[in-house]
Amino acid sequence: MSQTFTLAHISDLHLTPILGLGPGHWNVKRGLGYLNWVRSRRLVHRLDIANRLVADMWQHGADHVAVTGDIVNLGLPGEIAEALSWLKTVGPPAKVTAIPGNHDIYTRRMNGPSCLEIWRDYLAADAWGAEFSGQSPETFPFLRRVGPLALIGLNSAIPTRPLVAAGRIGREQRDRLEDDLRKLKATGLMCVVLIHHPPLPGQTAPRRALQDADEMAALFARSRADLVLHGHNHRDSLIYHPSRERPVPIVGVASGSAVRTHGPEPLARYNLFRFSSSGIEMIVRGLADPNGAVVEISSHHLHASVQPMAV
Ligand SMILES: [Fe+2]
Ligand SMILES: [Fe+2]
Repeated sequence: MSQTFTLAHISDLHLTPILGLGPGHWNVKRGLGYLNWVRSRRLVHRLDIANRLVADMWQHGADHVAVTGDIVNLGLPGEIAEALSWLKTVGPPAKVTAIPGNHDIYTRRMNGPSCLEIWRDYLAADAWGAEFSGQSPETFPFLRRVGPLALIGLNSAIPTRPLVAAGRIGREQRDRLEDDLRKLKATGLMCVVLIHHPPLPGQTAPRRALQDADEMAALFARSRADLVLHGHNHRDSLIYHPSRERPVPIVGVASGSAVRTHGPEPLARYNLFRFSSSGIEMIVRGLADPNGAVVEISSHHLHASVQPMAV
């Protein structure tokens, strides 16, 4: 790799306002979600903060942006349409890749097209990916080639009962992911997996967790992914997961729109990953002060001090 390629990762925007909530959209889950929004979340997440982070990532040399879900709040068609307008302000589909979160696919009661249809250009395979995987572009996982990277987008979002924010990848996606990772080895591309829910067991409470986290942990232990990016917890995290060839960095990013802290959740942040021949440099940028500038919070050289582990 002769040059540096920079991938920005932002997540959990929970964009405001809640749009298009009509009588036909109510159910118990949306009612409770709406109350949570009015009482708490609307004071935390702000569109102007997300836009400041997006401007900062382009200023700092991002070549591509990954958005790992929870772009909206109640999965309403009005919110989803508005979120498409926002995605367009971030960049064109060739520069931005998105996957859905549990708030984007919130309930079975949609009364309109889903985010998978409306955001299709941002969460579907490119021509290379569709040909490589042999699947239709809308099939998860989808593949995209950006610079030296193969981006692999998973869908962990499933409609759930009230007060449940769990997710599931499912056997079909897991089998395809493993197949893709095996085939991608021969390409020399760096494999970056995008998933909304934290993929390992114990990373969050059971009612918010990935139901097949055990299976995903086993998959990442026997397959080579170079980097796994997720959201959902609204907190930073970096875990090296043991794998056959070398530990896989599994990186969670905080919400990209938080104007105030919320329990353990920090102010808005995003991550920059600089891929070069010397490895992957991760830079966490965001707000240190609600009224301040976007600044560097920390930096990490991934793979810098770890050796391949036998499992
Ligand atoms: Fe979220
Ligand atoms: Fe989430």
